[in-house]
Amino acid sequence: MTKETVLVIGSCGQLGTELVESLREIYGDAQVVASDIKKSDNPVFEGGPFEDLDILDADRLGEILQKYKPTQVYHLAALLSATAEKNPEFGWKLNMEGLFHVLNAARDTGIIKRVYWPSSIAAFGPNTERFNTPQYGAMDPTTIYGISKLAGELYAQYYFNRWGIDTRSLRYPGLIGYKSAPGGGTTDYAVSIYHDALTTEHHTCFLKPGTTLPMLYMPDALKATLDIMHAPAEQIKIRSSYNLAGMSFAPEEIAASITKEIPSFTISYEPDYRQAIADSWPAVIDDTRATEDWGWKPQFDLDAMTKDMLKNLKPQYSAEKAK
Ligand SMILES: NC(=O)c1ccc[n+]([C@@H]2O[C@H](COP(=O)([O-])OP(=O)(O)OC[C@H]3O[C@@H](n4cnc5c(N)ncnc54)[C@H](O)[C@@H]3O)[C@@H](O)[C@H]2O)c1
Repeated sequence: MTKETVLVIGSCGQLGTELVESLREIYGDAQVVASDIKKSDNPVFEGGPFEDLDILDADRLGEILQKYKPTQVYHLAALLSATAEKNPEFGWKLNMEGLFHVLNAARDTGIIKRVYWPSSIAAFGPNTERFNTPQYGAMDPTTIYGISKLAGELYAQYYFNRWGIDTRSLRYPGLIGYKSAPGGGTTDYAVSIYHDALTTEHHTCFLKPGTTLPMLYMPDALKATLDIMHAPAEQIKIRSSYNLAGMSFAPEEIAASITKEIPSFTISYEPDYRQAIADSWPAVIDDTRATEDWGWKPQFDLDAMTKDMLKNLKPQYSAEKAK
């Protein structure tokens, strides 16, 4: 086990909750400092240090850096696509200023040796090639979230080129997991559909049939995140953000996959404002560069994910029914 200390910012969200758990298995509980603007009651956070941190407060970040001297920072705090559309000014402020504070701290303190910051498929736009979306192509995001992700990618690359900050990033597709709730993204339906399957056996989808989007099962997302952070620096040839893919499906395809396990499950459609966001995103991502540069390979396809999601969520609902 290494003695490195890791700081996770925005640790109580969908990704952070699981990432903290994985990082503590690797580095040890005491070496992984979780932080967030709000505390979570998830037992994961009882196992090691937790600090209150609003990433818009650069002085508070500085205090935490001096206290723990983390050599790696995972900066996950953000306003996600659907939520940011409701408050675009604040979405831009949080997503950009938060990143500046982390990058500036890495440059100015010398404590942080490596920074992970996720981008998103939202950085693409309507003129992006929708199928086999290339690493380098048209990027004209239409949401404030996507605009902040594209700008953030270029900033991360700038800090690498100009000040040698070891920045690493992935363009996540929609993330699907059972351990924590999604935080207001356009792909959230693909999580709630599994909860509905085990409760009402019916899901009303906020996207219409045929809306194919790229998705990634959480164990694969964690693997990709840890793989890129643990790869030797010379293998990281893209310092903006890597395309990353797992699977692509439309709502009726995930419904069909669930029906194989729960034959009585049904789906209906009531598209809302999130349809326009989804329509501006790619359908299938080409992640060849991630495979070539640092060996990326996902393990889960749609049916394997469905089986695993239902298996892991079922005990939660059986326990609730028994109460
Ligand atoms: N979940 C997805 O499908 C997805 C897809 C693509 C990219 N991403 C990116 O991955 C990262 C993590 O996403 P997530 O799904 O875990 O998001 P989430 O919304 O579930 O979690 C974000 C966390 O940040 C915290 N936070 C908010 N404002 C903060 C502040 N001012 N200071 C400190 N913490 C603050 C929130 O309390 C929350 O715990 C984000 O950068 C997101 O853009 C997520």
